[in-house]
Amino acid sequence: MIDTQNIHVQKIENSKIGQVDFNNIPFGKVYSDHMFMADYAEGDWKNLNINPYAPIEMSPANPSLHYGVSIFEGLKAYKHENGDVAVFRPDKNLERLNFSARRMCMPELDESVYYDGLDTLLALDKQWVPSVPGTALYIRPFVISDDDYIGVTPSVNFKFMIITCPVGAYYAKPVRVKIETEFVRAVKGGSGACKTGCNYGPTLYPAQLAKSQGYDQLIWTDGREHKYVEESGTMNLMFIINGKLVTPETGDSILNGITRRSVIELAQAWGVEVEERKVEVAEVMAAIKDGSLQEAFGAGTAATIAHIEVIAYEGKDYTLPDIAKREFSNKVLKELDDIKYGNKEDQFGWLRKI
Ligand code: COI
Repeated sequence: MIDTQNIHVQKIENSKIGQVDFNNIPFGKVYSDHMFMADYAEGDWKNLNINPYAPIEMSPANPSLHYGVSIFEGLKAYKHENGDVAVFRPDKNLERLNFSARRMCMPELDESVYYDGLDTLLALDKQWVPSVPGTALYIRPFVISDDDYIGVTPSVNFKFMIITCPVGAYYAKPVRVKIETEFVRAVKGGSGACKTGCNYGPTLYPAQLAKSQGYDQLIWTDGREHKYVEESGTMNLMFIINGKLVTPETGDSILNGITRRSVIELAQAWGVEVEERKVEVAEVMAAIKDGSLQEAFGAGTAATIAHIEVIAYEGKDYTLPDIAKREFSNKVLKELDDIKYGNKEDQFGWLRKI
């Protein structure tokens, strides 16, 4: 056992890394050797520990299990050719985690706890950051209740944890998505902008229905009228219409995606006109039909830039323009990869080196 900064570290005796086929990693199923944990009690974050990755104990009455008291983040670390490891925009994940915490009556995370945990864990499990092209170490920070009661009231004790897993592509090929007009993901005044488990569980059934019809994901529409395109649940939505980057504006019901923000910042730097605004389903459908919709893609940490191949609406499939000819989304995917993998100067200061 060793002490690093404020963290008590217990190293694993036998690393599992030799058992991993880095050329064939199922998303989210293989975990690195260690995990970080901290407790929140009496108004403070304390007990910072890194232990071998293992199940944790909790009360069967833990409010996270019953009332969805949970928030989480997703970010990635990349291996550079010279062996460096860099994390993409972790400051934005901390900002969003604390936004989610406020909405969910959970304590905000201290910057020092977040970065000490992240840096120490990644330094310890550095060899778990894969170097196969297109792969990364997915990092999952999360906060759950650590209380022991049944009752719909805010918790007072919490656990912050970080676990990591080497991953390949979340979507192995371009996606087929269906515009959802029956079920709803989020509404104005709801928690849709938070990364909380509450937003994901209820989407499984409609997503499963769509899967049984041959679609990879849904395009969620607004909860009142199903009139406006919102997000896709695993990613934000972006369109190139008449040469402009058009994307639904974020608000109560749409996640403020970090990949989405990065795409917008790159587009602006390249002089591409960007419109963040309400986007009507009718506008997207008209643009598909008259040919002014040139590209459609999802943007997310897990999904990266996911080309949309087919959009289904009212029982009909619409095939979008040839992916190989999509100038913007192919360029932005390459640029983001070049920055993340250290093949291009990090001119925006997006990388945190470990
Ligand atoms: C992420 O992109 O980080 C998410 O949390 C979405 C999920 C599909 C893994």
